[in-house]
Parts: sequence; C-alpha cells; structure tokens
Amino acid sequence: MTSRTPEHAVNPQFIQRWSPRAYSTEAISQTELMSLFEAARWAPSTSNTQPWRFVYALAGSGDFEAMCQTLAPTNRAWAQRASALIAVISATVAVAPGSNETKPLPVHAFDTGAAWMSLALQAHLMGWSTHAMGGVDRDALRRVLAVPETFALHCVVAVGRQGDKALLDEALQAREAPNARQPLSAMVCEGRFGFTA
Ligand SMILES: Cc1cc2nc3c(=O)[nH]c(=O)nc-3n(C[C@H](O)[C@H](O)[C@H](O)COP(=O)(O)O)c2cc1C
Repeated sequence: MTSRTPEHAVNPQFIQRWSPRAYSTEAISQTELMSLFEAARWAPSTSNTQPWRFVYALAGSGDFEAMCQTLAPTNRAWAQRASALIAVISATVAVAPGSNETKPLPVHAFDTGAAWMSLALQAHLMGWSTHAMGGVDRDALRRVLAVPETFALHCVVAVGRQGDKALLDEALQAREAPNARQPLSAMVCEGRFGFTA
C-alpha cells in the first residue's frame, strides 16, 4: 500500500497532486499562469464575494527576487528555483451589495482556500506543480507588495515544473515524495461530532 492509496473511489487528480520542492526552472508563460488564475476565479464564495486576490512574480524579475526575500530561509532555499511565485491574499471587508456600508467578511479565508485549491488542481492538470508556503514574513511581504491593512496575507505559492530531486540538499531529498493522510474516519462522522481532538 502506497502512502497515497485512496479508501474510496475518487478522481486520480486529487491523489496525484502533491507539493514537490525540486523545480526545473522551466519558464511558465503568462498564458499558462492566467489559466491557473482562471480556475481560481470560478471558485465558490460567500454571497459570491470572491475575496481572493493574487499577486504574482515571474522568475528572473526583480519582483520575484523581492517576494523570494520575504520567504523563510528554509523555503527560499528551494522556492528560488520556482517559475513563478504567487502571493495569496484576501479582502477581509467588502461593501455590502446595494449599500455603501463596509462589512467584515468572516469567511474570507475559507473562500480563498477554495480558490487556491482550484488553482493548484488546474496547475496539476497542466503538468505544473504548486507548493504553498505559510513560512513567509507577512509584514515584509505586505511592505514589498504594498498590501493595504484591510487585506489578509495567507501564503506564497511556488509554481514550477517538477525537477530532479538531486537539486535539493540531502535533508530535503529525503522528504521529496508524496505524503500520506489520516484515515477518513479521523475526519468524517455521521450525525454528531464524534471526534476527541
Ligand atoms: C497554507 C499552507 C502553508 C504551507 N506552508 C508550507 C511551508 O511554509 N513550507 C513547506 O515546505 N510546505 C508548506 N506547505 C505544504 C504542506 O506541508 C503540504 O501541502 C502538506 O504536507 C500536504 O502535502 P501535499 O501538498 O504534497 O499533498 C503548506 C501548505 C499549505 C496549504
């Protein structure tokens, strides 16, 4: 049994997507990148508020280097070889439809999580890999990207073509494989909340 054996029938894309760290440095085109954002665009959200915002930088640009510098050193070590970096951001407030009143969006993070997953799966279907990184200096990222305070910064996503794991140091090479999941019984129950922790 591999670490990625499903317990029930499921489309293979959900099992086959994973987050590598070894990237080939192949360039990604604007057209391909826009397909990833197009997938995210169609994600569901509360009252169709679409709170997600993405700021991207292509490898080789000054913007890429600046975003890279905000990553935790452990992430920067491998993410610097990515083809693009994408900051995943969400609006925490919005003007309610039909009014001038600005109201909080309590589930902006949930909605934006759905959008990121669409982006990741679209990338996978196109033969690109993605790897989200919460290990980022968010204050620095906010400064570098000039993100207003009413927006939340969630993570930076590396996009790249999977490369040879020999590109990584020994410690990361040992981790360069798809990982497992808890059993479904640890996250699903019928009727009442039946979990201890
Ligand atoms: C919001 C978020 C933040 C993450 N932060 C990091 C990170 O800082 N560094 C890292 O190497 N991986 C990070 N990951 C990757 C997770 O460790 C990975 O998705 C998880 O182990 C499941 O593996 P898989 O994506 O290969 O299926 C992050 C993933 C998510 C969704």
